[in-house]
Amino acid sequence: MHTVARSEYGSSATSEIDIYLESPPPKGFVKVDALWVRRSRIAAGWILDSTSGNLPAIVDIGCGQMSISAFLPAHTLYIGCDHVARDLDTIVIDLNEASLPLFDVADAVMLGVLEYIDDVPALLAQLQQFERITLSYCTHAFWRSGTKRTRYWRNAYSARQFKALLRAAGFEIVRQRYLRVGEMLFQIKRAA
Ligand SMILES: C[S@@+](CC[C@H](N)C(=O)[O-])C[C@H]1O[C@@H](n2cnc3c(N)ncnc32)[C@H](O)[C@@H]1O
Repeated sequence: MHTVARSEYGSSATSEIDIYLESPPPKGFVKVDALWVRRSRIAAGWILDSTSGNLPAIVDIGCGQMSISAFLPAHTLYIGCDHVARDLDTIVIDLNEASLPLFDVADAVMLGVLEYIDDVPALLAQLQQFERITLSYCTHAFWRSGTKRTRYWRNAYSARQFKALLRAAGFEIVRQRYLRVGEMLFQIKRAA
């Protein structure tokens, strides 16, 4: 397991950040990042609040190290999917190559993933199978805060453009907040 000492999103350049940006991360690489754990904790709080704690199952799209699972009830069936097998139960799927399977589950979470997706509207359309989705997105304002742009990210919508994409895909925005400069967390549900 490879880790870096600081977030790729740190505001000051460090050698770790430069190394990460200038060479491809090894397959299966997932950083240990306190900001991602914080993001998971906040997202889990929203999910449990919106379901009144009644969360039989959840799909974690681009699950990485599955950090949100630590904040969910023990009885919740946790379904992780990612393009890298994170454990024996991970549903392995490259979302730039194939569509999400149908899960028959009401809730999904997708944190820090859309930035890596070639066709964001197409993936958002596939989320219509869920009743509620909690997702994050780094808008292009993120880069204006002085962070070096990683070449592994495939898109950079403004907050306004991204919200328009959510609505065009048939979702209503239930909650939204900034997690830090340029990074937004949304809870969306299928529009009536
Ligand atoms: C920034 S990490 C976030 C991990 C986790 N959601 C979290 O918040 O801790 C992005 C995750 O998206 C996954 N990912 C990136 N591109 C993907 C793709 N094309 N298909 C499926 N998963 C992908 C990566 O493997 C990684 O686990």
